[in-house]
Amino acid sequence: SLAQEEMENRVWDIKKEMGAQLFLPCHHYQREEVYQFADAAGDSLQLAQISAKNRHAKYIVFCGVHFMAETADILTSAEQTVILPDMRAGCSMADMADIHQTERAWDMLQSLFGDTMLPLTYVNSTAAIKAFVGRNGGATVTSSNAKKMVKWAFTQKKRVFFLPDQHLGRNTAFDLGVELADMAVWDPIRNELIYEGALENVKVILWKGHCSVHAHFTIKNIEFVRAKYPDMQIIVHPECAHEVVALSDFSGSTKYIIDTIENAPAGSAWAIGTEMNLVQRLIKNHPDKKIISLNPVMCPCLTMNRIDLPHLLWSLENIIEGKETNVIKVEENTARDAVLALERMLKL
Ligand code: 13P
Ligand code: SF4
Repeated sequence: SLAQEEMENRVWDIKKEMGAQLFLPCHHYQREEVYQFADAAGDSLQLAQISAKNRHAKYIVFCGVHFMAETADILTSAEQTVILPDMRAGCSMADMADIHQTERAWDMLQSLFGDTMLPLTYVNSTAAIKAFVGRNGGATVTSSNAKKMVKWAFTQKKRVFFLPDQHLGRNTAFDLGVELADMAVWDPIRNELIYEGALENVKVILWKGHCSVHAHFTIKNIEFVRAKYPDMQIIVHPECAHEVVALSDFSGSTKYIIDTIENAPAGSAWAIGTEMNLVQRLIKNHPDKKIISLNPVMCPCLTMNRIDLPHLLWSLENIIEGKETNVIKVEENTARDAVLALERMLKL
């Protein structure tokens, strides 16, 4: 196998050779060995916006996970080809809501609530779910704009059906003043709605999904940091459980976390509850601040990490040789409905 340096040089050469024909967007959770080649780095909202704007590149080699590449395909033109360097780079959260479960849930919820719900889906969902949401008047959200989108949803309908991340949904609704007792959880395995108060008071129906990376940050981690480093500030992603967010000092999207650390004074101390590659990059870029992972065992997103240097090089070599591999192409009818949900978000 090629040595690391040889592979890196080859990627640089291909990038030079392809010039503006090639665009390489990269999520902040990507490995350093891949991230170094990013033409644009961003969180999921930024990557969606960047994809929507790019009309030049013939090839978009997406360094992120499957749902992000699907979004890029939906938002770019038919002449552009989106490639995911490793097809196994999925997202366990997106996998927690399939379209059949969702349609069944919608039917059952409509029999309880009639026409009072607007569906919203976190962009971390399949194109089929985005299409379902688009068809039913709803929109996508990201962790950067969730508050704005949920607020908008309440101008449309009395209730919000939020897929697939219960935590982002709960944390966002709570910030907007919805009481926990007025939130219900839809369990797609048991096909039942779990709620505490009166059914007619339910304002938000949360899909029972979660991120397996952010689930690793716990109240115990927070108690440990508070005891050992009393001066340390705790910042977490809103994909963490509500109790964890409530006990932290700050919570927000990937971009919010990066901006907060960048603007923090030298000498400040931070425990960060988010994906490992981002935490490590922040540690490296801010030697003047004390930064640790909120969970002392670093938490990688295993699927994000599947995009590595060998896979990136392999997909680029294939393009050069005229045999495109791992092309992400969303079926036309699905894309047509999904784009409605994405555009409702992008225009707000
Ligand atoms: P953001 O990029 O919106 O912060 O989402 C984090 C994430 O889990 C991406 O998969
Ligand atoms: Fe999915 Fe969580 Fe990984 Fe993001 S960090 S891709 S939500 S599993």
